[in-house]
Amino acid sequence: MSAYFDDNTLTEINLRLDILDVVAETVKLSRKGDRYWGLCPFHGEKTPSFSVTPGKNMFYCFGCHAGGNLFTYIMKRDGVDFPEAVRMLASRAGIPLQSTPSNKGADRFKRVVEVNKAAAAWYQDILEHEPAAAPARRYLTRRHLTKDIITRFQLGYSCHEWNRISNYLLNKGFDQEWVKESGLIKRSKNGDSYYDLFRERVIFPIFDYHGNIVGFGGRTLEDAGPKYLNTPETEIYVKRNHLYGLYQARDAMRKSNQAILVEGYMDCLKLHQHGFTNAVASLGTALTREQALLLRRYTENILVLYDGDEAGQRETLRAVQLLAEQNFNVEVLSLPEGLDPDDFLDQHGKEELLQYIQNNRVSYIEFKVKKAIDAENILDLQAKIRVINAVKGDIARLESSILRDNHIKLLSRQLKIEENLILKEVESNIGQLVRHPGNKSQVNRDNIQYGNYSMEEKILANMLHDRDIANTIVSQIGLQCFTSRHYNRLAAICYEMDGDLGANPGVWQQIAQEEGLETLLARLESRWHEGIHINDAELWFFIRYVERQRHKAKWRELHQRLDQLRDDGGFHSVLRLILDLDTFLHQTREGGIQ
Ligand code: UTP
Ligand code: MN
Repeated sequence: MSAYFDDNTLTEINLRLDILDVVAETVKLSRKGDRYWGLCPFHGEKTPSFSVTPGKNMFYCFGCHAGGNLFTYIMKRDGVDFPEAVRMLASRAGIPLQSTPSNKGADRFKRVVEVNKAAAAWYQDILEHEPAAAPARRYLTRRHLTKDIITRFQLGYSCHEWNRISNYLLNKGFDQEWVKESGLIKRSKNGDSYYDLFRERVIFPIFDYHGNIVGFGGRTLEDAGPKYLNTPETEIYVKRNHLYGLYQARDAMRKSNQAILVEGYMDCLKLHQHGFTNAVASLGTALTREQALLLRRYTENILVLYDGDEAGQRETLRAVQLLAEQNFNVEVLSLPEGLDPDDFLDQHGKEELLQYIQNNRVSYIEFKVKKAIDAENILDLQAKIRVINAVKGDIARLESSILRDNHIKLLSRQLKIEENLILKEVESNIGQLVRHPGNKSQVNRDNIQYGNYSMEEKILANMLHDRDIANTIVSQIGLQCFTSRHYNRLAAICYEMDGDLGANPGVWQQIAQEEGLETLLARLESRWHEGIHINDAELWFFIRYVERQRHKAKWRELHQRLDQLRDDGGFHSVLRLILDLDTFLHQTREGGIQ
């Protein structure tokens, strides 16, 4: 189990709390059968498709496919991480948790955040009222920022004096230790005094996802010196763990199930101002894995909207790669050369940006293809191979075979190379992926459509509940019979557990949670309760279907070997092939496959 909590704590929480009570705090529920229904808190909807199964402490939404257990629910609803969700629920259930050594750290954090909060309020007050801040107010007007957005993001201004913020904070009674720790003051060169870090700069407070101010950015009005200064990295402020605008964007990201990722403070603000309230900025650094994981709590769909210049495009390539590896659905919008989102909105406005997004967004694979082609001078055969190599891993990683197919077709058309040649390249990568599954995605969309069960989903749900069905599958085609690795993993867990899911749902839930499969499990459970039991004919149809698919793959492999032999066919390799072919045909006849 997790490093922080033992199994007993989690089981105890599950026993003492009813998910119904927790959900009912914010969602109006009504009962139908053994389930409760309400409007989904995770996406906007008018008719209820959000369901809660109290006996199992699970929830599932048929609209947006969010689902999981009590802990997942709190993580999603309050945007907290797993340990935090456990703490909240434990305290609610009246279960004491052992205090961890990090409590002292938590105390320091609180102190520094208090300092930051006071400082931000003061900077804000200066921007609004002080005559000396008039140039800053004019500057923000010139940048077309409205009063509303300035307030919403608590922008401020620091004057030109060297000791104002330190005097102010110390006079207010803050301990010098915490003021130093906040990074708002800097030690002078000879080491005997301190001076204010931000002078004559517009101040952008940086919030963590709870709304604590953890750091600041400060922009010059003059475009002299460094354009932005930022709070230095400390134990408290670790840049890689934060995103500018996250706190203000989280509800919108949840509701729209999408995030817009930009580079700059100004881009983020301007997007919010124009109603794109799901925008966040990566704080001027290359996007980090931690930042990606933060976003994952709210959505799995990201539109990357970096600057149109060369540096921006290079960063885009890095960011989309990282996001795709974290199993996000990533789309990219390249702005016209030289413009960032802020400029675009200033010059063209909201409607044009919407239009531009509609017409120019591409999947990250298309983006990578375009970049790879652009990087070549002439598109000769070698260049084409480089292009295919650049994206074959990405295509292989796609869970939906329809999407894979689509990308292969596009690539074939762009490179004028036969589809099945590209397919072979991609398939060799799929083999590697099965052996090294990457990160598990929280959401598995596979070939599932709302209200429409896929065959695999039905089979898996039946395997989980019916030992006989599971045994038949294993003896006929083995456990790894699904196209999605999440399904295969759940099937394997099912078999290791040696018992059906109905008997001990609690243990199942915990394992699924650890492996990031709780959404899938919750969905299968919901569907099971709607009655998707299969009969023998369906079971055998599936088994035959999988066998046929495997034979097709085998044929493809043989064809590939034939192709190779045509070029460099030694006697022994030809003989080997003939023998393999013979075994294969023999099996095929015995197995009765047409
Ligand atoms: P940009 O140079 O694109 O700035 O840097 P911008 O956001 O468009 O700002 P304006 O429109 O000129 O006012 C993108 C981001 O990189 C970080 C900041 O977070 C900035 O928003 N940055 C940039 C720094 O931290 N320091 C710098 O000196 C420059
Ligand atoms: Mn800009």
